[in-house]
Amino acid sequence: MAQQEDVFKKLVSHCKEYGFVFPSSEIYDGLGAVYDYGQNGVELKNNIKRYWWDSMTLLNENVVGIDSAIFMHPTIWKASGHVDAFNDPLIDNKDSKKRYRADVLIEEQLAKYDDTIEKEIEKASKRFGEAFDEQKFRETHPRVLEYAAKREALHTRFVRALNDTNLEELQQIIIDEAIVCPVSGTRNWTEVRQFNLMFSTEMGSTADGAMKIYLRPETAQGIFVNFLNVQKSGRMKIPFGIAQIGKAFRNEIVARQFIFRMREFEQMEMQFFVRPGEELKWFDQWKQTRMRWHKALGLGDHKYRFHDHDKLAHYANAATDIEFEMPFGFKEVEGIHSRTDFDLSSHEKYSGKKIRYFDPELNQSYTPYVIETSIGVDRMFLSILAGSYCEEQLADGETRVVLRLPPALAPVKLAVLPLIKKDGLPEKAREIMNSLKFDFQCQYDEKDSIGKRYRRQDAIGTPYCVTVDHDTLTDHRVTIRHRDTMEQERVPVADLNPLIADKVSLKNLLNY
Ligand code: GAP
Repeated sequence: MAQQEDVFKKLVSHCKEYGFVFPSSEIYDGLGAVYDYGQNGVELKNNIKRYWWDSMTLLNENVVGIDSAIFMHPTIWKASGHVDAFNDPLIDNKDSKKRYRADVLIEEQLAKYDDTIEKEIEKASKRFGEAFDEQKFRETHPRVLEYAAKREALHTRFVRALNDTNLEELQQIIIDEAIVCPVSGTRNWTEVRQFNLMFSTEMGSTADGAMKIYLRPETAQGIFVNFLNVQKSGRMKIPFGIAQIGKAFRNEIVARQFIFRMREFEQMEMQFFVRPGEELKWFDQWKQTRMRWHKALGLGDHKYRFHDHDKLAHYANAATDIEFEMPFGFKEVEGIHSRTDFDLSSHEKYSGKKIRYFDPELNQSYTPYVIETSIGVDRMFLSILAGSYCEEQLADGETRVVLRLPPALAPVKLAVLPLIKKDGLPEKAREIMNSLKFDFQCQYDEKDSIGKRYRRQDAIGTPYCVTVDHDTLTDHRVTIRHRDTMEQERVPVADLNPLIADKVSLKNLLNY
């Protein structure tokens, strides 16, 4: 675990050193849980968004996109339930004055039981070697059984407290489990209180009677309130989906783990409208499709898993998360929810406008049901970086840091490097770069030894480096060096474009 934390620290400083992510307002000592994307970060982020957008709107004839405003009529958030129910249960430690999410403290306690069980198994497996029967050990070993029973009892109690929104019980669990504050080490807790996560501001001047409005905490509502606009103007037939990418804002209490939990972040959401009664079939279909999308990145299938929700949100009748193995454990990157007809019905009620679909095949009108896929761009960014970051020991005793990014997502696709800074090589390199720059994000670099230049490109995940040497001037060939294998081959300059285009195309990912 300590080793993993170490990797995470290195990843955070790598992001800063190589222009991926900077703390926001850094010269003013930063702003909690707000980050800026640098020159390489923005390219990677745009490529992730393009991968998602194309997978939705190109691969599905019946999914179209929109871009709705961040500011929306405040009644939308009343209708969606966010004004009344978008809360986190928080608790303070009186000694450290630190604030925590009560549910997160309990989830961490559950994870501790799991860890303890796994450690017992690991120890026994080492002791017994080949002869070890893990299942039998789990079913019979007294200590494992004791921990498993404690975990199960805690889990049942926790789920009940969450479902009943029983704040006293959440506090009692924290006391009974003897959970301590990680900072002060004490159990001196306040009671548990609800805290609404929405940011608000005012629209119009106070003289006019300004209106309190909210910064959207999810992009989904912009889709729901445009359901009829898109359905009618696009002559869309159910089932169909509306996709959107945009900023969302949440006043997170526990904002940690870098860009994993931010106060300003970006979501990629798709609402898929279906016939009532067919929603669970579509839920399952989107669950599988989304998992394939993640695995197509090639970061390792074992790094993903589903996690079905214990507590369903106020709008859902089924929900699961896709989790990725971050350096700090398996964490949610995407949520897939069967949202029933909750949102459309509620907007119909609050707006007084009929929001129905006439189904010509059934010859009947109804409020469509909705399957939602919702993924955070920033979490996706973090999972891709964590899955690609590699420290390699080389044959010559040196180490290199390489980002093994899927080539289609890499911020820079190729670097053009003249072997030396004279003899017409820079001019030739520029000429080659000028012929490629319309199709690919390229970088020109002539400073330092070729080895150092390779390392710089490895560190930002550039899949190809093209070296121009003296022979290039006469044989019109260059050396192309592959990031992952470090192999080099000599290819005609004229072949570069199709060769690279083939390897960095998004098609390689979209074919899942
Ligand atoms: N419309 C449904 C919805 O917003 P959610 O599970 O609250 O559902 C969806 O959020 C996704 O948005 C999450 O899986 C996560 O990737 C991302 N997300 C949520 N809160 C975030 C935060 N504070 N910082 C970064 N990403 C966040």
